[in-house]
Amino acid sequence: RAGTPPTPAETAVTGRYAFAFDIDGVLIRGGQVIPEAIEAMKALNGQNEYSIKVPYIFVTNGGGKTEQERCIQLSKQLEMEVSPGQFICGHTPMQEMAQKFNTVLVVGGEGEKCRQVAEGYGFKDVVTPGDIIKDNQDTTPFRKLTPEEFKNSRLRNFAEVEIEAIFVFADSRDWASDQQIILDLLMSKRGRLGTRSENYDDGPPVFFSHNDVVWSASHDLTRIGMGALRVSLEAMYKAVTGKDLNTIAFGKPQIGTFEFATRLLQRWRKDTHGIDAPPETVYFVGDTPESDIRGTNEYNERSEHTWYSILVRTGVFQEGTKPKFTPKATVDNVLEAVRHGMEREY
Ligand code: G3P
Ligand code: MG
Repeated sequence: RAGTPPTPAETAVTGRYAFAFDIDGVLIRGGQVIPEAIEAMKALNGQNEYSIKVPYIFVTNGGGKTEQERCIQLSKQLEMEVSPGQFICGHTPMQEMAQKFNTVLVVGGEGEKCRQVAEGYGFKDVVTPGDIIKDNQDTTPFRKLTPEEFKNSRLRNFAEVEIEAIFVFADSRDWASDQQIILDLLMSKRGRLGTRSENYDDGPPVFFSHNDVVWSASHDLTRIGMGALRVSLEAMYKAVTGKDLNTIAFGKPQIGTFEFATRLLQRWRKDTHGIDAPPETVYFVGDTPESDIRGTNEYNERSEHTWYSILVRTGVFQEGTKPKFTPKATVDNVLEAVRHGMEREY
């Protein structure tokens, strides 16, 4: 039977175990699919020596688009359908904050995309850095809005607006001006631009959708990411105010993200495969020891079920270094990771 894919009727679904995948550095690199990823997905969809289908979800720290848009893109890259019901990105769990704050600043991403994402999550009043520059172009001495940005930005009088929280949804496209605006708000009286609080203890909280200092993009070497902006902002705040800034990160390795992933996987297995019991083991395949491996290992300690971390060599982690957090297994690529997990099961 080698080489003959099983027909759907021959393929049973296992309820005993499942997979969860990181995206950048595991399935995709710099917008291009990592070739073994397509084979790995085929294997999970039943083209394997056991003729078994294995349920799986995706958990990325990336973002900047709606889950729906990300899934359309991922479906094309992986040559199979990916549904928002099996997908979490860095900002997905932020939707749980939408009822807590009224007016929020949303930072990062292309054009108006992140505003649309935030509004889709139910945030009631979403401000962007562009809106603030449109109201007062002296805010950022070296950044002028493009005609397109000017057109899309919403004109309002920020002297009358209280910004209650700051959310960094995706990578900043202009660190200097975004940091200037965030700093202005942190030093303001209750999020009112143009004011300065006396002791700088009155500013809004800052949330980041993840904390990856580096990530794996198209360059051979890792590139700085949102976690680097966080470090930079905290250092700058200290230099300007003399005080420590506490910011909050979502995404991996936060336990909350793994809890969210567990609920997603449970719903996905039930709705698409009719499996109503939790899996004994979830294999998590990632490339970043600090977020994927750390999060999986720490969650495994707390969970009643096994979360088994597998590190691949196609992304942030490079051979010759010792990962800061030790995976249960290290393999060359995502296809090897899937094979490793399946072999352990039989
Ligand atoms: O900006 C995205 C990057 O930091 C990580 O994405 O898929 O490796 O979690 P991922
Ligand atoms: Mg990754």
